[in-house]
Amino acid sequence: MANTLIKNIGSLSGIQTKPHSFLKGEALSHLSQINDAYLLCENERIKDFGQMSNAPKTADTIIDAKGGYVLPSWCDSHTHIVFATSREEEFVARIKGKSYEEIAEAGGGILNSAKKLNKLTEDELYESASKRLNEVMRFGTGAIEIKSGYGLTVESEIKMLRVIKRLKSNFEIPIKATFLGAHAIPTDYKNNRQDYIDLIIHEMLPVIARDQLADYIDVFCDKGFFTVEETDQILKAGASFGLKPKIHANELANSGGVQVGIANNAVSVDHLEQIEEAEIEALKNSQTIPTLLPSCSYFLNIPYAPARKMIDQGLGICLATDYNPGSTPSGKVPFLLSLACLKMKLTPEEAINAITINGAFAMEIQEDYGSITKGKIANLIITKPMKSLAFIPYAFGSDHICRVLIKGKSFFEAS
Ligand code: NIG
Ligand code: FE
Repeated sequence: MANTLIKNIGSLSGIQTKPHSFLKGEALSHLSQINDAYLLCENERIKDFGQMSNAPKTADTIIDAKGGYVLPSWCDSHTHIVFATSREEEFVARIKGKSYEEIAEAGGGILNSAKKLNKLTEDELYESASKRLNEVMRFGTGAIEIKSGYGLTVESEIKMLRVIKRLKSNFEIPIKATFLGAHAIPTDYKNNRQDYIDLIIHEMLPVIARDQLADYIDVFCDKGFFTVEETDQILKAGASFGLKPKIHANELANSGGVQVGIANNAVSVDHLEQIEEAEIEALKNSQTIPTLLPSCSYFLNIPYAPARKMIDQGLGICLATDYNPGSTPSGKVPFLLSLACLKMKLTPEEAINAITINGAFAMEIQEDYGSITKGKIANLIITKPMKSLAFIPYAFGSDHICRVLIKGKSFFEAS
C-alpha cells in the first residue's frame, strides 16, 4: 500500500458526498470547498481529506501544495483527438469570408480530414493522438471521450476505433470511445446517401460490436449532414448492437436533432448553439444531458448555446471541449472556462461543475470520477497559489496548473 499526502492546500474544491446526482439549475452554482486543507490518497483512490490541522503527520509521499487549490480533474466528454493533421488553411479561408458550410460543401471540412486520415497507418494515428492526449492531460483533463468519424470507410472507421482502443489500454485515464461513422456523407455517396447509411448499419456496426470497439454511437444531425430520419435510423441500428447515443445536434440549424436524440434515449445531445423553447422543454422532461461546447462557438464565430437561460430554467448542462481539427483545435479546458464565464454568463463555480461532475455523468463514470469524494479515483489538479477559483477563468492567458495527479501519482509538474 502506498499513500500520498497533499498538504497546505489553499482550498480543496469540488467536494461531494455520495450518492450525488447530475447538477441542475441552482445546484450547479454550489461548489463545496474546504480552505486550508489536506488530502490523502491511498494507492489510486482518495482516502481522506479535511482541515490542515487534522492532517496525518507522515505519508510515503508528501506533496506541498503551498497554498495552491486542489480540484478534481476535468472530465471532457466530447472530443475528436484522433485525426491526421490540422486544417489551418480552412481557418484562413474563413477569415477571408468563406463559411464552415461552404468549405464543407466544396469537399473541405470533415471530408478533407477523412482524405488525409485514409492515407495514414494505425501506428501513425496512434502516435499523434497520444501526443494530443498527453497535452490535454497536462492541461488537467483526467477523463475523456474520443470519437471516430474521420474515416468514413469501413476500414478507416475501424482503424480510428482501434487507435482509441490502444489509447484506452495504454493511458491511465478512463477513455470512452464513440463511433461517429455518420459524421458526413462521403463524396462517392452524395447521390445515394442511403447506401452509405446501409454501409454504417450493415458493414461497420457488426464489426464494431463484435470487437467491442465503441461505447457510444454518434450522428452529426444537422443541416447539410444527416437528417432527423437518417439519424433515427442509425441510432436505432446502434441500439440493436447495444450502443447508446451521444449525438451532435443543432450546431448549424434548429433541425429536430435534440428531439430525435431524446426519443432514442441519448446519454447526451451536444452543441445546441441553435435551440429554442421547444428544445429546452423537451430536455427538461428527459434524462438526456445537454452538452455545450463554447470553444467551437468561439472558433467558428457562431452563436453560443443559451446556457444561462437553460440553467435558469432548471436544466443541468455539461461543458466539453470538442477538440478537433475543424471547429475547435484546442483541448485546453481553462480557456473553455473563460469562454463559458464571459460568453455564456456562467459563474466560475457553475462552469467548473459542468466540466467535472456533470462531465463525468456525460461519460457515465460519475461513480469514480468528477469530484473530491472519498473512494473516488485520485485524478487531481493542483493549481498555483491564487486568491479564488475565479482566477482560473479570469486570467485566461496564464497557465494555472502546477501539478496533475493521475491515480494518486504525479503525472505532470510545471517547471
Ligand atoms: O463537433 N460538428 C461536427 N463535428 C465536429 C467538427 C468536425 C470538423 O470540422 O472536422 C464538431 O464541431
Ligand atoms: Fe464534435
